[in-house]
Amino acid sequence: MLKLAVIAGTNREGSRTLRLARHVLYRFEAAGSVGTLVDLRELPPDALLSTAYDQRPPELEPMVDAIMEADGLVVVTPEYNGGFPGVLKLFIDLLPHPESVRDRPVCLIGISKGRWGAMRPVEHLAQLWHYRNGFVFPERLFVHDALEGLADDGAPTDARQLRHLDALVPNYLAFLRRLRGYPDPEEG
Ligand SMILES: Cc1cc2nc3c(=O)[nH]c(=O)nc-3n(C[C@H](O)[C@H](O)[C@H](O)COP(=O)(O)O)c2cc1C
Repeated sequence: MLKLAVIAGTNREGSRTLRLARHVLYRFEAAGSVGTLVDLRELPPDALLSTAYDQRPPELEPMVDAIMEADGLVVVTPEYNGGFPGVLKLFIDLLPHPESVRDRPVCLIGISKGRWGAMRPVEHLAQLWHYRNGFVFPERLFVHDALEGLADDGAPTDARQLRHLDALVPNYLAFLRRLRGYPDPEEG
């Protein structure tokens, strides 16, 4: 069974990104994978110490383990001032290097109040992933107009975005299976 880590890319209380990330995880689990939600509100304060790059705070290890043990990563990022949140960059910078990104697949999902659905931060994350020799799943989901665009359960309210998510979930799992050389259950 494929194992995922879904990162909610901000630590803001009341974040819509976290709500969407929970829904995305639910969708992947409903499609037959198992997953862990990586909630950046759990980042320990010591992650900000100047020594954290050389000596990761022990409290960070469960989050690091979730990343390292996953077959595939999903990053759900909001747009903050035209980029992805600093706390997400800090988390990535504290992960084991280079093995946390190199040869690791990632699916990128954006959410923003504005009309572009966090396209800028998603593309910046893709750039980071390419630079560090990771595998970016080519399909992205951009959830725009987040204030009215997200239901209470975290599902996008827009019918086209829902259809897109319906396709993205099995397609990403198939992408992961191809990368791992697992047989495709459809081709039994
Ligand atoms: C610090 C900060 C900066 C933001 N900058 C942008 C922005 O540049 N463009 C945009 O469309 N929305 C911006 N937003 C609004 C977020 O897109 C909105 O809050 C959305 O719900 C996703 O973020 P959330 O997970 O914090 O809720 C910003 C929000 C915060 C807290």
